[in-house]
Amino acid sequence: MKPKVFLTRQLPPEPMKRLAEQADLTVNPHDRYLTKAEIIDGIRGVDGLLCLLTDTIDGEIMDANPDLKVIANFAVGYNNIDVAAATQRKIPVTNTPGVLTDSTADMAWALLMAAARRVAEGDRFVRTRQWGGWGPLQFMGTEVTGATLGLIGMGRIAQAVAKRAAGFNMPVIYWNRTRLSAADEQRLDVQYRSFDEVLRSSDYVSIHVALCDETRHLIGRRELSLMKPTSTIINTARGPVIDEKALVVALQDGTIQSAGLDVYENEPQLEPELYDMDNVVIAPHLGSATVATRTKMGNMAVENCLAVCNGNRPPNLVNPDIYA
Ligand code: GLV
Ligand code: GLV
Repeated sequence: MKPKVFLTRQLPPEPMKRLAEQADLTVNPHDRYLTKAEIIDGIRGVDGLLCLLTDTIDGEIMDANPDLKVIANFAVGYNNIDVAAATQRKIPVTNTPGVLTDSTADMAWALLMAAARRVAEGDRFVRTRQWGGWGPLQFMGTEVTGATLGLIGMGRIAQAVAKRAAGFNMPVIYWNRTRLSAADEQRLDVQYRSFDEVLRSSDYVSIHVALCDETRHLIGRRELSLMKPTSTIINTARGPVIDEKALVVALQDGTIQSAGLDVYENEPQLEPELYDMDNVVIAPHLGSATVATRTKMGNMAVENCLAVCNGNRPPNLVNPDIYA
């Protein structure tokens, strides 16, 4: 008998087809995310839940189905799931690491370049028919080549961002909870600094930490005030890592120059001021949004989900304690 799986949103075609073939599948019929009540309804009687980063999965949802075998997240980040509650209930939680590293690093660079060179602002200017011709003072941005790049966090994605900096002759400094080995620092050509020093010395600061209690509002008023007035902050990680209200103030009063944001504290809502600020490039959480990457993430989530449903240990387990 095929395992019963509840999927909270349509996946790209390839993983969708695999899941439909190998599982007795129920899918969210809407093109929107589900309410908590709808998720609770959906997971009753199924073996596996395949969910998204927009679904908050807490203990109450898990208790709606005491026979739930797995929670497979279609994302590398899993802050949307109460992993401790899942572990307590012996439910494996899985994610999709690795496959979105490069696309997310590319997106961080896209935002960095767009903010530095005022690409989105220029686009709006041309589209609104305001452009009267080339001008020597128009949209002067900040130099990227040779500038110092500071990375907060040094996981896979930060390392991929660091590699790309070599092409721009940018010195890369980083802070991470645990320092890399000397060999890795040399291989990546990155230098370790204290957290405050990275903020103080960088022209571009890019955030690459997972969201957890320790990293919520890691960047607030104090941290922004350490940054150079000419600097840019990039966030492709998770919105709540930055205190968004403090960021708005820092961008308004010139504490920092600009921001490139892909993630927000209360998605899909932004601090209202952000919508109208020209020194912010805003993207709708697109880090992993390429056809190839989303397909790989889907395949990985399906594989994780079906592995557990079929009695096997999943390849990308977040809470290995449950098998201890
Ligand atoms: C995307 O934000 C992810 O965590 O996969
Ligand atoms: C996520 O993939 C990370 O470790 O950076």
